Parts: sequence; C-alpha cells; structure tokens
Amino acid sequence: MTVCEYRPGLEGVPATQSSISFVDGQQGILEYRGIRIEELAQKSTFLETAYLLIWGGLPTKQELEAFEHEIRYHRRLKYRVRDMMKCFPESGHPMDALQACAAALGLFYSKRALDNPTYIQDAVVRLLAKIPTMVAAFQLMRKGNDPVQPRDDLDYSANFLYMLNEQEPDPLAARIFDICLTLHAEHTINASTFSAMVTASTLTDPYAVIASAVGTLAGPLHGGANEEVITMLQEIGTVENVRPYVEACIQQKSKIMGFGHRVYKVKDPRATILQRLAEQLFDKFGQDEYYEIALEMEQAVEEKLGHKGIYPNVDFYSGLVYRKLGIPVDLFTPVFAIARVAGWLAHWKEQLGENRIFRPTQVYTGVRNQVYTPLAERPQIWDKQAVTIQSIVN
Ligand code: ACO
Repeated sequence: MTVCEYRPGLEGVPATQSSISFVDGQQGILEYRGIRIEELAQKSTFLETAYLLIWGGLPTKQELEAFEHEIRYHRRLKYRVRDMMKCFPESGHPMDALQACAAALGLFYSKRALDNPTYIQDAVVRLLAKIPTMVAAFQLMRKGNDPVQPRDDLDYSANFLYMLNEQEPDPLAARIFDICLTLHAEHTINASTFSAMVTASTLTDPYAVIASAVGTLAGPLHGGANEEVITMLQEIGTVENVRPYVEACIQQKSKIMGFGHRVYKVKDPRATILQRLAEQLFDKFGQDEYYEIALEMEQAVEEKLGHKGIYPNVDFYSGLVYRKLGIPVDLFTPVFAIARVAGWLAHWKEQLGENRIFRPTQVYTGVRNQVYTPLAERPQIWDKQAVTIQSIVN
C-alpha cells in the first residue's frame, strides 16, 4: 500500500470509483451517465433523470410510467410524521426539519433488507416521493396552516409547487422548476454525497443515509450557499455598491457566496442554464430587482478573481429562479435536497454494489506517552491552549 500525503479537504484524492456522473472542471462539462446536462435539461424530466441516475439507463416508456405511478402513490405522509412535525418550532430551519423527517422514515420502515431488490426499489420510491411533501408540509405548518395533500393529477414538480403555494402553478413555472431539479440531481463526490456514501458503507438503512446527506448539504459552503447569495444581494442593495463590496471581500479574504468551486475553474454549466431560466421567468412574470446587481457582480468577480478560476457556481442564479417561483429563501436548500436525493440514492445503490466500509487514516499531531495526573494534583484552571487531551476513542 502506498502512503499518501495528507491533502486538506481530500482535494484531488479519489474516494471511490463511480459511473454515475462526470465533471470536467476545466471545460465546464457535466454528464449524468454520459449524457450532457444541457441535453437532459432540455429534453428530460426530473423523474426520468432520477431513473437514469439510480438504475443506470434511460427507462422505456412503460418503465417510466410505472416509476412515475409508484411515486405518485407514495407521496402522502403518515399522519404520525405530520404529528411529529407539528412539534417542531416554527423558527427552526427547514433543513433541520427535513433531516429529522428523513431519519424518522427509518422508524416506520425499520425492517432492513439491503440484499432484497424490492426493498431497494421501495426505499427509492418512498424517499423520492415523500421528501417534497415533507418540505411543503413544514412550510405550511410553520405558518399555522394544515399541510396540503398531494394531487394525483399533477406531475412531480407541479405537485410540489401546488403543495407549497396552495395553488396550481403556471405550466412554464412548473417546467422551469422541474429543470432546476434535473440540474441539481447529481454532482459526483461532493460533500453531501460523500457523507451519504460513508453512512451507506456501514450498511445502515437508506433513511439514515439520506438524513446524514441532508445535514451535510445544509452548510453555507455547500448547498446553503444559495440562501446566502440572496442575503448578499439584499445587503449590496444597488448596482453601484457591487464593486466596493467585491473589493472589500477580497481585502478581507472573505468568500463571495455563489462563486468558486473545488472542481470547476470556469463558469459552472448549471449556472449558465439557470441564468437562462431566470431570464425566461423574468420575461413572463417581470424582472427581479436583484438581477442587475447579480450581473454586475458576475462581471466584477470575473475581472478580479477570474485568474484564480473563480466564476459563478450552481448556487449563484438558482435563488433568483426560486424567488420568482414564490419559494421562500430558507427553502432554497431543501429544494436542492429534493433534487439531490436522486444522486444520493444512486450513490447509495452503487456503494452497496461493491461495499467496503470507509475507514480512512489520519496524520496524528498530538502528544504521546503522557502521564495521567490525578484530579487533586491538576492546576485549578487549565490552560486549554497548552493542554491537549489525547482521545482514547478510536
Ligand atoms: N470568493 C472569493 N475568493 C474565493 C472564493 C469565493 N467565493 N472561492 C475561492 N476563492 C479563492 C480563495 O480565497 C483561494 O484564494 P488563495 O489561493 O489566494 O488563498 C482560492 O480561491 C482557492 O479557494 P479555496 O477555498 O481553497 O477553494 P476550495 O476548493 O476549498 O473551496 C468552495 C470551494 C468551498 C466552493 C469555495 O469556492 C467557497 O467557499 N465558495 C463560496 C460558497 C459557495 O458558493 N458554495 C457553493 C459551492 S457549490 C455547491 O456546493 C453546491
């Protein structure tokens, strides 16, 4: 075995072999199972793309209809899940609510049979079907309303917007939302997918796998950035303030939200599509007050940081699309999660196919061979900087 150097953030370290998606960060290429994201965005639907990712190939007409039918049938939540949600504080973040609900599904479907294809199929269907209902239900319940029941005559994306906004969406809005889900469905071994794979490798249940991925997606350096982008555009307020804001970030070495990516060193291809989708929505439903600021920001960041490969990532324009669709800012990341469940499930299935538990090594930097000091002989106040307590837990 070769001993490798320590790479912070595991940058460039292959953690698995995978045939699910491919990214070329220099050329701005993203493919799911070999198909370019631009083509899927234009021609596919989210559920068909989810099928492609999870089962490895495009479905036949019959397979797709059966998959859609099953998902429709499983959209409802058990009343006990809804009762549990009633106890959540309305001030809590919807990502925390979603993580708790995803984990709770494991209580209801606790018989684990990872070697049974029917069990795998059922878990895939349940998670894809119920996660959107959970997000919409939490939104209504925190406003003091009853959740809206799913409508069987509406497709996946139209039904979600209906449950969220309590009215049937415009067809263009529903189609654009569906494309957003396709764009966010999968993206190689990012932080939340890695989290899902590590959890999956212990052979725990799929609900725990998705719950751990949701928790990881929530952070502002990952999925949570879409929310932070809108807060940033709000704070900047005017086009004139953009360049001073960018300058200040560079001076203070703080990160500009929605820019930069570990893999892409050019504009993220999903950001290009999302920008176009935002413009389609503005044409039909009116301009967004932040769009001019966003455009100026992209230009200013490119001028100042383009040489470092810092360009808009997927989170930069998605918020502007979601705002136009009537989605509240703190639901942007849960909406990301609705889509990414497809990719997480694909990696869960792939992990089970050739499983070995993840157990990396570390470079130990602590002290060794220390003597245990009895409590009575220790100084009254520990200097926490000077003392390293060696963990005995492996
Ligand atoms: N704004 C300003 N400078 C940046 C940014 C940014 N958003 N991103 C990277 N840089 C600079 C860094 O300061 C660093 O410069 P230096 O070499 O002179 O020190 C260089 O680019 C490399 O940055 P790292 O932080 O080492 O890059 P890393 O690959 O670790 O981070 C990350 C990638 C976390 C996405 C980072 O770009 C970032 O924090 N962006 C803002 C948050 C964001 O939008 N996250 C969403 C990412 S997409 C997703 O997860 C779905």
